[in-house]
Amino acid sequence: MNKADPKPKLLTRRSVIAGIGAGATWALAPQPVLADTRARFGVAVHLEPFRNEPVFRELLIRHASLIAPMNALKWASLRHTKGEFDFGGADEIVNFAEQNGKRIHGHTLLWYGYNPVWVEQLSGERRVERELINHIETVVDRYKGRIETWDVVNEVVAHDPLDKGPWRKGIWHDYLGPRHVDIAFKTAAQVDPSARLFINDYDLEDDSPRTKARQEAILRIVQRLQDKNIPIHGVGLQAHLYAERRTGRENLVRFVERLKALGLEVAVTELDVIDWKLSADRERRDRGVADTANEFLEAITSAGTLRNITSWGLSDKYSWINETFPRKDSARARPLPFDENWQAKPLFDVIRKYTA
Ligand code: G3I
Repeated sequence: MNKADPKPKLLTRRSVIAGIGAGATWALAPQPVLADTRARFGVAVHLEPFRNEPVFRELLIRHASLIAPMNALKWASLRHTKGEFDFGGADEIVNFAEQNGKRIHGHTLLWYGYNPVWVEQLSGERRVERELINHIETVVDRYKGRIETWDVVNEVVAHDPLDKGPWRKGIWHDYLGPRHVDIAFKTAAQVDPSARLFINDYDLEDDSPRTKARQEAILRIVQRLQDKNIPIHGVGLQAHLYAERRTGRENLVRFVERLKALGLEVAVTELDVIDWKLSADRERRDRGVADTANEFLEAITSAGTLRNITSWGLSDKYSWINETFPRKDSARARPLPFDENWQAKPLFDVIRKYTA
């Protein structure tokens, strides 16, 4: 799991089985080592446990290949006042990642939500555009050559495009229209041409009409940027999975294949499993969470290599899901690879199957 230094490339079990399945004789004969095409395992880092629970850092060092500040690079964390940038929290995490040979993912340069009040109070197209460009220039420049991938825009697609059209409303869209996405990607690319630039969104995993509409909206945004020669390199599927929903395997594979046909990388950026509808029994819940993730990861990896599979936190002790999807029995959510005592769960074994 820990790929701080590139390990010798391995002949993976999957590639051998695939070869045998395809009747290839090479799978049984001694073969040149093949690249391990599995994704890197990433972990989103929440400052509270990062600062207060040494076991979290130990597990990051041992298991993670990539680290993503969960909140520290958001406008709400960086920009308490209009003229200020507070990089304290982000620098703690970025410096730790660099000191331990981990790759770094930046989340996020533009989001409709969790902006400081002064941002929500901005008015006028030119002022809003100026603030957006200044923010992205300053943040991307600070971590130029250090943060290798960015969620340039997060959740710019409407929750339900079938209801209100493709675009998520918010300060950036309301003053700049669809251009807000163009400006964000163009600015990030100008500041750090080496960074890989992603669009990131949720509810892209099943095959409901709403999900299909969201997927189409993502594809249209990608093609819009490509038609304007504005750099975009990948799509992040957040993969906040629901244990009571099924992965729409055929639809998901087709979506990923269409993204790859456009030359894009694909990443799983915020994996966890919302277990609020599962039984109270811990073992059955942990099994259900693992099975839900396995169904999804088996499907999405069958469509090709993922850049990363990032877990949205590591321990059940710290998850946004408790507040957003509270269980009727008031039991704590169990969405992550490690439990509240930092012990590995079946979900961690599933993730290890699909990550290098
Ligand atoms: O740091 C302050 C702390 O000083 C203060 O005492 C406390 C009081 O409430 O708030 C703390 O900030 C909280 C922050 O998490 C750090 O814990 C914010 O209130 C809280 O809103 C924030 O929630 C985060 C949320 O995004 C909004 O930024 C969650 O941790 C984070 O998991 C969640 O992640 C999002 C992704 O960015 C985008 N995709 C969906 C995902 C889940 O909502």
